[in-house]
Amino acid sequence: MAIIIDGKNLSSLIKENLKEKVSEFEEKYNRQITLAVVLVGENPASQVYVRNKIKATEYVGMKSLSITLPETATYEEVAKEINNLALDNSVDGILVQLPLPKHLDEQKILKLIPIEKDVDGFLPENVGNLCLNLESSIPCTPFGVIQMLKHYNVELKGKNAVIIGRSNIVGKPMAMLLLKEDCTVTICHSKTTNLKEFTNKADILIAAIGKAKFVTEDMVKDGAVVIDVGINRVDGKIYGDVDFENVSKKASYITPVPGGVGPMTIAMLLENTYLSAVRRNNE
Ligand code: GUN
Repeated sequence: MAIIIDGKNLSSLIKENLKEKVSEFEEKYNRQITLAVVLVGENPASQVYVRNKIKATEYVGMKSLSITLPETATYEEVAKEINNLALDNSVDGILVQLPLPKHLDEQKILKLIPIEKDVDGFLPENVGNLCLNLESSIPCTPFGVIQMLKHYNVELKGKNAVIIGRSNIVGKPMAMLLLKEDCTVTICHSKTTNLKEFTNKADILIAAIGKAKFVTEDMVKDGAVVIDVGINRVDGKIYGDVDFENVSKKASYITPVPGGVGPMTIAMLLENTYLSAVRRNNE
């Protein structure tokens, strides 16, 4: 039976530590760290994520600004809000919750965020810096995964890491971070043929597909470390991308859903916001 990587507990430790750093920052600079969260539309999952992000921001003592726009908002309307936040010197981080409604061009909207406020690490310059091992804001979900692996002392050097999913938010930055840790990295995706051949060679398997219980025990090597990034709602219940019940019998470490990667994503968003505030104050 695998050791369960407890993301909820680790995220609590990170948040308690941040609480202290945030309060020291406030005392030193006599101002509150502020994160602005922009939500366009009524996607129920996004509404839940945004609510949790705001709650956690306030929990660690930061200020949160919440901007909600209707599904029908035009580019100009969204741009106006982001431009205001960009110019507002009291705002340290701007997060635009993805996905955006289909009529909006994601890259065009994200480009409105000034690089120093990009707490998601989604801007081309941050993505490029990450690839070049230069200082950058690191996308929160893969950042959280690396923190979990390190906290549980999982050996990464020389290991075969296989990622299922090539998204800009998870798969691609995850690959860069694991490469930096000296893993041999493979990215698989929906067009990969013989997926099982790849996953069965994985010492570290990252599932970021978005399909409930997609990764079954026959796809997993004995003793593998399995990280489940999926959050899938089926009949009102939440499932990961991994068939936890059966895969946990084979893996050496596994993350649960909920209580695994999800809380870590939020903790790393707060960490990125803190780092952004420190950088802005030092500039
Ligand atoms: N949608 C799903 N994950 C994320 C994330 O980490 N940041 C943003 N902005 N949107 C998301």
